[in-house]
Amino acid sequence: MDLGVDIKSIIAEIDNASNLNELYQLKVKYLGKKGIISQLNKNLKDIEQEKRVEFGKKIHELRVLFEEKYEEKENFLKNEGRKQKLASENIDITLAGFPFKFGSLHPLTRVYNEIVDIFTAMGFEVATGPEIESDFYNFEALNIPKAHPARDMQDTFYITDEILLRTHTSPVQIRTMLAQEPPVKIIAPGKVYRCDHDVTHTPMFHQVEGLLVDEKVTFGDLKGTLTLFIKRLFGDDVPVRFRPSFFPFTEPSAEVDMGCVICGSKGCRVCKNTGWLEILGCGMVHPNVFKSVNYDFTKYRGFAFGMGIERITMLKYGINDLRLFFENNVKFLGQF
Ligand code: PHE
Repeated sequence: MDLGVDIKSIIAEIDNASNLNELYQLKVKYLGKKGIISQLNKNLKDIEQEKRVEFGKKIHELRVLFEEKYEEKENFLKNEGRKQKLASENIDITLAGFPFKFGSLHPLTRVYNEIVDIFTAMGFEVATGPEIESDFYNFEALNIPKAHPARDMQDTFYITDEILLRTHTSPVQIRTMLAQEPPVKIIAPGKVYRCDHDVTHTPMFHQVEGLLVDEKVTFGDLKGTLTLFIKRLFGDDVPVRFRPSFFPFTEPSAEVDMGCVICGSKGCRVCKNTGWLEILGCGMVHPNVFKSVNYDFTKYRGFAFGMGIERITMLKYGINDLRLFFENNVKFLGQF
C-alpha cells in the first residue's frame, strides 16, 4: 500500500537544507497544519476500514522517520552555526593593542587639591555651603550693611533683592560659626560669581577661604600660617610680604604678596615691574562679625583669609590667559 509520497526525496530535501531556516520550512511543509503528513492523517477517515490500520501505521512510520532525520539535521546545523560563530569571534591575543589615551586632571583641580591638602595637613577641615545665598550670609553678617560702599567692590548677580549668587565663599564662615562653637578651623573652597568679564575676569571663578577662631589667636598665627602655606605651594625660597589693606569683615586687614615667580622678582609685565604678586587677602575677624554669629568677641579671636584659585594656578603654571581654563581644549589640558 502506497502513501503517495517519496520517502527518499523527503530525506534528500532534509539533507539539502543548508541552514536552520530552510530546515524549518520543511517542518512546516510536512508537519504543519496543512503539511503533507498532517494531510495524510486527515484523509485517514476516508480510507476503507480494513486498510485504515495499516495506512495509519505507515503514516506513523513516515512521521517518526521524518522527525528523526529532522532532529539529526537540526543538531548538525546548530553545531555548525556555533562553530562558525566561535571562529568569527576568535581573538588574536598576539595583535598589538589600540593606543589608549589617558585623561588628566584640570589644572584648577590640581591646584585646588594641593591647596586643600596643605591646609588639611595643618588641621583645617573643609566646609561647604550653597552657591545661591541670601544677602544676610553674603553681606550683612560680614559687616557689609546695605548702603555700605564696600558692596561696590563686588559686582553682584542678584536673583531677588535678598537672594544672590555668592560673591565669595565667606558666607560659609558665617554658616559654620552659626552652627558650632569655637574652636573653628575650616577652609571653604568653591565657586563664586561676580558680574565681570574680560581677559583677567570670568563671571564664575573659584576661591578658597579660611577661618580660624579660638581663644588666643594672634596676627602672628595668621602670618605664620599663610607664610607656611605659600612656601609649601611655591617653594621655600619664595619671599612673602604682608601689606596693610581693607576688608569690612577683618580688622586689621592685609594683602599678602609673594616674590614674582615669573621673573624671579626682577620685574616683568606680570608683576608690573614691582617684583611682587598679590595672592591673598586676610585679616583678624572683625568684632561685628562675631556679634552677628553670637560669639563672645571679648573671649575669642580669629583670623580669616581668601584667595582665588585661578590666579594662583596661572602663577604656578605660568598661564597668561584666564579663558584657557574654561575652553576645555584637550591639548591645553593635557599639558598638566
Ligand atoms: N572675601 C574676600 C574676597 O572675596 C577675601 C577675604 C577673605 C579677605 C577673608 C579677608 C579675609 O575678596
